[in-house]
Amino acid sequence: MGTENELMSELSRAGTNLPRHIAIIMDGNGRWAKKRFLPRIVGHQEGVKSVRMAVETAGKLGIQYLSLYAFSTENWSRPKDEVNGLMTLLRDYLRREVKKLKKNNVRLSAVGRTHELPAESEKELRKAIAETRDCGGLNLVLALNYSGKTEILDAVNKALEQVTAGPLSESKFKSFFYLPELPDVDLLIRTSGEMRISNFMLWQCAYSEIYVTPRFWPEFRKIDFLRAIQEYTKRERRYGGV
Ligand code: FPP
Repeated sequence: MGTENELMSELSRAGTNLPRHIAIIMDGNGRWAKKRFLPRIVGHQEGVKSVRMAVETAGKLGIQYLSLYAFSTENWSRPKDEVNGLMTLLRDYLRREVKKLKKNNVRLSAVGRTHELPAESEKELRKAIAETRDCGGLNLVLALNYSGKTEILDAVNKALEQVTAGPLSESKFKSFFYLPELPDVDLLIRTSGEMRISNFMLWQCAYSEIYVTPRFWPEFRKIDFLRAIQEYTKRERRYGGV
Protein backbone atom coordinates (compact mmCIF):
# COMPACT_ATOMS: atom_id res chain seq x y z
CA MET A 1 0.00 0.00 0.00
CA GLY A 2 2.71 2.51 1.02
CA THR A 3 2.90 5.78 2.87
CA GLU A 4 1.61 9.05 1.46
CA ASN A 5 5.07 10.04 0.19
CA GLU A 6 5.74 6.61 -1.30
CA LEU A 7 2.38 6.66 -3.09
CA MET A 8 2.96 10.19 -4.31
CA SER A 9 6.29 9.26 -5.87
CA GLU A 10 4.95 5.96 -7.26
CA LEU A 11 2.07 7.81 -8.93
CA SER A 12 4.26 10.66 -10.13
CA ARG A 13 6.10 8.03 -12.15
CA ALA A 14 2.90 6.37 -13.46
CA GLY A 15 2.71 8.66 -16.52
CA THR A 16 0.07 7.57 -19.00
CA ASN A 17 -1.28 4.96 -16.57
CA LEU A 18 -2.77 7.78 -14.53
CA PRO A 19 -6.43 8.61 -15.10
CA ARG A 20 -6.87 11.57 -17.41
CA HIS A 21 -10.23 12.46 -15.90
CA ILE A 22 -11.19 11.79 -12.27
CA ALA A 23 -14.76 12.48 -11.14
CA ILE A 24 -15.84 12.44 -7.51
CA ILE A 25 -19.26 12.00 -5.92
CA MET A 26 -18.54 13.74 -2.63
CA ASP A 27 -20.99 11.95 -0.36
CA GLY A 28 -21.47 11.62 3.39
CA ASN A 29 -21.16 15.21 4.62
CA GLY A 30 -24.50 14.98 6.45
CA ARG A 31 -23.72 11.65 8.09
CA TRP A 32 -20.27 12.86 9.12
CA ALA A 33 -21.92 15.80 10.91
CA LYS A 34 -24.72 13.70 12.43
CA LYS A 35 -22.22 11.28 13.98
CA ARG A 36 -20.75 14.30 15.78
CA PHE A 37 -24.11 15.84 16.76
CA LEU A 38 -23.35 18.81 14.52
CA PRO A 39 -25.61 20.58 12.01
CA ARG A 40 -25.39 19.19 8.47
CA ILE A 41 -23.87 22.42 7.16
CA VAL A 42 -20.79 21.81 9.32
CA GLY A 43 -20.31 18.58 7.34
CA HIS A 44 -20.38 20.57 4.11
CA GLN A 45 -17.95 23.13 5.57
CA GLU A 46 -15.54 20.33 6.50
CA GLY A 47 -16.09 18.93 3.02
CA VAL A 48 -14.53 22.06 1.53
CA LYS A 49 -11.22 21.02 3.15
CA SER A 50 -11.37 17.75 1.23
CA VAL A 51 -12.14 19.72 -1.94
CA ARG A 52 -8.92 21.70 -1.40
CA MET A 53 -6.95 18.52 -0.82
CA ALA A 54 -8.31 16.86 -3.98
CA VAL A 55 -7.58 19.92 -6.14
CA GLU A 56 -4.03 20.27 -4.79
CA THR A 57 -3.24 16.56 -5.09
CA ALA A 58 -4.68 16.17 -8.59
CA GLY A 59 -2.75 19.27 -9.68
CA LYS A 60 0.53 17.96 -8.25
CA LEU A 61 0.09 14.61 -9.99
CA GLY A 62 -0.55 16.27 -13.35
CA ILE A 63 -4.13 14.95 -13.67
CA GLN A 64 -5.83 16.79 -16.53
CA TYR A 65 -9.47 16.88 -15.36
CA LEU A 66 -11.04 16.71 -11.90
CA SER A 67 -14.84 16.89 -11.78
CA LEU A 68 -16.62 17.36 -8.46
CA TYR A 69 -20.34 16.76 -7.94
CA ALA A 70 -21.08 19.75 -5.74
CA PHE A 71 -24.84 20.25 -6.22
CA SER A 72 -27.33 18.10 -8.11
CA THR A 73 -30.65 19.23 -9.57
CA GLU A 74 -32.23 16.95 -6.92
CA ASN A 75 -30.46 18.81 -4.08
CA TRP A 76 -32.95 21.72 -4.33
CA SER A 77 -35.42 19.51 -2.43
CA ARG A 78 -33.30 19.74 0.74
CA PRO A 79 -34.36 22.09 3.58
CA LYS A 80 -34.07 25.72 2.53
CA ASP A 81 -31.40 26.45 5.17
CA GLU A 82 -29.17 23.70 3.83
CA VAL A 83 -29.57 24.81 0.21
CA ASN A 84 -28.79 28.42 1.17
CA GLY A 85 -25.84 27.24 3.26
CA LEU A 86 -24.42 25.26 0.34
CA MET A 87 -24.83 28.19 -2.06
CA THR A 88 -23.09 30.52 0.41
CA LEU A 89 -20.28 28.00 0.86
CA LEU A 90 -19.81 27.79 -2.88
CA ARG A 91 -19.82 31.57 -3.31
CA ASP A 92 -17.29 32.03 -0.49
CA TYR A 93 -15.07 29.24 -1.79
CA LEU A 94 -14.92 30.84 -5.23
CA ARG A 95 -14.36 34.32 -3.80
CA ARG A 96 -11.64 33.19 -1.41
CA GLU A 97 -9.79 30.63 -3.53
CA VAL A 98 -9.76 32.08 -7.02
CA LYS A 99 -6.31 33.63 -6.45
CA LYS A 100 -4.92 30.33 -5.22
CA LEU A 101 -6.47 28.46 -8.14
CA LYS A 102 -4.85 30.91 -10.52
CA LYS A 103 -1.50 30.69 -8.76
CA ASN A 104 -1.63 26.89 -9.04
CA ASN A 105 -2.54 27.15 -12.73
CA VAL A 106 -5.99 25.58 -12.17
CA ARG A 107 -8.58 26.36 -14.84
CA LEU A 108 -12.10 26.37 -13.48
CA SER A 109 -15.22 25.44 -15.41
CA ALA A 110 -18.68 24.19 -14.58
CA VAL A 111 -21.32 21.79 -15.85
CA GLY A 112 -25.03 21.97 -15.10
CA ARG A 113 -27.83 24.47 -15.49
CA THR A 114 -25.65 27.09 -13.80
CA HIS A 115 -27.85 29.95 -15.03
CA GLU A 116 -30.45 28.77 -12.46
CA LEU A 117 -28.10 29.24 -9.48
CA PRO A 118 -28.75 32.16 -7.10
CA ALA A 119 -27.47 35.37 -8.75
CA GLU A 120 -24.60 35.95 -6.28
CA SER A 121 -23.23 32.41 -6.60
CA GLU A 122 -23.56 32.48 -10.37
CA LYS A 123 -21.78 35.83 -10.56
CA GLU A 124 -18.88 34.54 -8.47
CA LEU A 125 -18.71 31.42 -10.61
CA ARG A 126 -18.60 33.40 -13.87
CA LYS A 127 -15.88 35.64 -12.42
CA ALA A 128 -13.72 32.72 -11.27
CA ILE A 129 -14.12 30.97 -14.64
CA ALA A 130 -13.09 34.15 -16.48
CA GLU A 131 -10.14 34.79 -14.15
CA THR A 132 -8.68 31.30 -14.58
CA ARG A 133 -9.43 31.03 -18.30
CA ASP A 134 -5.77 31.10 -19.34
CA CYS A 135 -4.51 28.60 -16.76
CA GLY A 136 -2.98 25.53 -18.36
CA GLY A 137 -2.71 23.05 -15.46
CA LEU A 138 -5.51 21.04 -13.86
CA ASN A 139 -9.02 21.55 -15.25
CA LEU A 140 -11.34 21.72 -12.25
CA VAL A 141 -14.95 21.10 -13.23
CA LEU A 142 -17.69 21.86 -10.72
CA ALA A 143 -21.01 20.12 -11.33
CA LEU A 144 -23.59 22.62 -10.13
CA ASN A 145 -27.33 22.23 -10.51
CA TYR A 146 -26.24 19.21 -12.50
CA SER A 147 -28.01 16.03 -13.57
CA GLY A 148 -26.66 13.56 -16.11
CA LYS A 149 -30.12 12.96 -17.58
CA THR A 150 -30.71 16.71 -17.92
CA GLU A 151 -27.34 17.17 -19.63
CA ILE A 152 -28.34 14.58 -22.24
CA LEU A 153 -31.81 16.09 -22.59
CA ASP A 154 -30.41 19.63 -22.95
CA ALA A 155 -28.03 18.31 -25.62
CA VAL A 156 -30.89 16.62 -27.49
CA ASN A 157 -32.91 19.83 -27.45
CA LYS A 158 -29.95 21.93 -28.66
CA ALA A 159 -29.33 19.41 -31.43
CA LEU A 160 -32.99 19.55 -32.45
CA GLU A 161 -32.72 23.32 -32.74
CA GLN A 162 -29.44 23.39 -34.63
CA VAL A 163 -29.13 20.22 -36.68
CA THR A 164 -31.18 20.08 -39.81
CA ALA A 165 -30.28 16.61 -41.03
CA GLY A 166 -29.26 13.40 -39.30
CA PRO A 167 -27.95 10.96 -38.38
CA LEU A 168 -25.88 12.45 -35.53
CA SER A 169 -22.49 10.90 -34.79
CA GLU A 170 -21.36 10.38 -31.21
CA SER A 171 -18.80 13.18 -31.49
CA LYS A 172 -21.29 15.59 -33.06
CA PHE A 173 -23.79 14.81 -30.30
CA LYS A 174 -21.12 15.43 -27.62
CA SER A 175 -20.56 18.88 -29.07
CA PHE A 176 -23.93 19.88 -27.52
CA PHE A 177 -22.88 18.93 -23.98
CA TYR A 178 -22.17 21.58 -21.33
CA LEU A 179 -18.40 21.12 -21.83
CA PRO A 180 -17.89 19.39 -25.16
CA GLU A 181 -14.13 19.06 -24.63
CA LEU A 182 -14.55 17.15 -21.33
CA PRO A 183 -13.17 13.64 -21.90
CA ASP A 184 -14.89 10.50 -20.61
CA VAL A 185 -14.36 9.79 -16.93
CA ASP A 186 -11.57 7.27 -16.32
CA LEU A 187 -11.93 6.98 -12.56
CA LEU A 188 -15.17 7.64 -10.67
CA ILE A 189 -14.72 7.87 -6.91
CA ARG A 190 -17.65 7.82 -4.50
CA THR A 191 -17.26 8.33 -0.78
CA SER A 192 -19.50 7.07 2.06
CA GLY A 193 -19.95 3.55 0.74
CA GLU A 194 -23.03 4.02 -1.44
CA MET A 195 -22.99 1.94 -4.63
CA ARG A 196 -24.75 4.40 -6.89
CA ILE A 197 -23.97 6.77 -9.77
CA SER A 198 -26.73 9.19 -8.67
CA ASN A 199 -27.29 10.79 -12.07
CA PHE A 200 -23.67 11.94 -12.39
CA MET A 201 -22.07 12.23 -15.85
CA LEU A 202 -24.06 9.30 -17.20
CA TRP A 203 -22.68 9.63 -20.71
CA GLN A 204 -19.10 10.32 -19.64
CA CYS A 205 -19.10 7.42 -17.14
CA ALA A 206 -20.04 4.75 -19.70
CA TYR A 207 -16.71 2.93 -19.17
CA SER A 208 -15.39 4.46 -15.98
CA GLU A 209 -13.60 2.44 -13.38
CA ILE A 210 -15.56 2.85 -10.16
CA TYR A 211 -13.95 3.14 -6.73
CA VAL A 212 -16.12 3.30 -3.64
CA THR A 213 -14.68 4.02 -0.20
CA PRO A 214 -16.61 3.82 3.09
CA ARG A 215 -15.04 7.10 4.26
CA PHE A 216 -17.33 10.11 4.50
CA TRP A 217 -16.24 13.02 2.26
CA PRO A 218 -15.06 15.30 5.14
CA GLU A 219 -12.69 12.55 6.31
CA PHE A 220 -11.40 11.68 2.84
CA ARG A 221 -7.69 12.46 3.08
CA LYS A 222 -4.82 12.66 0.63
CA ILE A 223 -3.80 9.08 1.38
CA ASP A 224 -7.33 7.87 0.53
CA PHE A 225 -7.28 9.78 -2.75
CA LEU A 226 -3.86 8.39 -3.63
CA ARG A 227 -5.01 4.83 -2.83
CA ALA A 228 -7.98 5.24 -5.17
CA ILE A 229 -5.67 6.39 -7.96
CA GLN A 230 -3.19 3.63 -7.21
CA GLU A 231 -5.95 1.03 -7.48
CA TYR A 232 -6.98 2.53 -10.83
CA THR A 233 -3.44 2.13 -12.18
CA LYS A 234 -3.71 -1.61 -11.43
CA ARG A 235 -7.04 -2.17 -13.13
CA GLU A 236 -7.21 -3.74 -16.56
CA ARG A 237 -9.57 -1.78 -18.82
CA ARG A 238 -11.18 -3.77 -21.58
CA TYR A 239 -13.98 -1.49 -22.83
CA GLY A 240 -16.16 -4.47 -23.65
CA GLY A 241 -13.34 -6.30 -25.42
CA VAL A 242 -11.37 -9.31 -24.17
C1 FPP B 1 -23.27 15.07 -0.31
O1 FPP B 1 -23.32 14.79 1.07
C2 FPP B 1 -22.65 16.38 -0.55
C3 FPP B 1 -23.27 17.43 -1.16
C4 FPP B 1 -24.64 17.38 -1.64
C5 FPP B 1 -22.60 18.72 -1.32
C6 FPP B 1 -21.14 18.71 -1.57
C7 FPP B 1 -20.60 20.04 -1.25
C8 FPP B 1 -19.40 20.33 -0.70
C9 FPP B 1 -18.38 19.31 -0.43
C10 FPP B 1 -19.05 21.72 -0.32
C11 FPP B 1 -19.12 22.76 -1.36
C12 FPP B 1 -18.36 22.45 -2.59
C13 FPP B 1 -17.44 23.24 -3.17
C14 FPP B 1 -16.89 22.84 -4.48
C15 FPP B 1 -16.92 24.47 -2.58
P1 FPP B 1 -24.73 14.58 1.76
O2 FPP B 1 -25.16 15.87 2.34
O3 FPP B 1 -25.70 13.98 0.80
O4 FPP B 1 -24.39 13.55 2.89
P2 FPP B 1 -25.36 12.45 3.52
O5 FPP B 1 -25.68 11.48 2.42
O6 FPP B 1 -24.52 11.85 4.59
O7 FPP B 1 -26.57 13.16 4.06
